[in-house]
Amino acid sequence: MNLFLKDKIAIVGGASMGIGLGIARILAEEGARVAITARREPALIEAANALREKTGAEILPVQADCRRAEDCERVVETVAREFGGIDILVNNDGAPPLGELTSFDDAAWGKAVEQNLMYVVRMARAAVPHMEARGGGILNIAAISAIQPIAGFGLSVATWGGVIGYAKTLSLELARRNINVNTICPGYIETQRLEKVFAAGGQDPEKIRAELTEEVPMGRIGTVDDIASIVALLVSPRGRYITGTTIQVDGGLLRGLR
Ligand SMILES: NC(=O)c1ccc[n+]([C@@H]2O[C@H](COP(=O)([O-])OP(=O)(O)OC[C@H]3O[C@@H](n4cnc5c(N)ncnc54)[C@H](OP(=O)(O)O)[C@@H]3O)[C@@H](O)[C@H]2O)c1
Repeated sequence: MNLFLKDKIAIVGGASMGIGLGIARILAEEGARVAITARREPALIEAANALREKTGAEILPVQADCRRAEDCERVVETVAREFGGIDILVNNDGAPPLGELTSFDDAAWGKAVEQNLMYVVRMARAAVPHMEARGGGILNIAAISAIQPIAGFGLSVATWGGVIGYAKTLSLELARRNINVNTICPGYIETQRLEKVFAAGGQDPEKIRAELTEEVPMGRIGTVDDIASIVALLVSPRGRYITGTTIQVDGGLLRGLR
């Protein structure tokens, strides 16, 4: 199926590795021009070079910390200037620290709100004026824990709850401008971050991996391609009628009927 992504202009956050890199790769393979961001510039440049080599696509690395308002604005302005517009915005990054909710002070809460919620608010606010004449897609990466909370993940659960409410409302406001807004909630996906989660409890990471894999009805940890494929559809003209949704991509892990 042709997703009609050729020459579309995309911004993919947190894309020097992991889920963001997988999304950037699939969009580039489909012919999009892709700007990627991350904090650590050497890894970002390396990822951009590898993407160019693999896909032949135009790739623009823009170093940025998504928790900083000025970085969000600079990313959007740089892409609009260098590429001449914006069609696709994928909000993805790292995540706040794990730990018991009552152990975090106001400063930690402030950082979590900046990273998960205000990042999405600022990127959409800056990008929409560049998108509205052309139509387009906005896609947020959250986590299954935002709809099926996990103890210890509370900073993310609480702030992504805000993202889901924000995205649904934004989808209503942008629908007549032919811009869709959706949120993907991954289950367990094979990335460096998941390795850290396996190791976080101080137990044998391989034992935790085996236990969590067993929990997944499909019996395997997901791949970044499992996420990237649906993201490519949702942000493409083919997926434009799908808006305001929160979709889990988790091998059947979510136990609710929602
Ligand atoms: N992997 C999973 O199983 C899983 C499951 C559910 C949800 N998720 C969520 O999906 C997102 C991506 O996860 P992942 O597993 O792909 O993580 P990852 O492998 O650690 O990659 C994170 C990417 O985001 C960048 N990043 C981190 N903090 C940033 C910041 N403040 N500003 C800009 N870029 C930043 C990182 O580069 P720098 O460090 O250089 O900035 C890196 O490129 C996270 O929000 C995670 O919670 C992951």
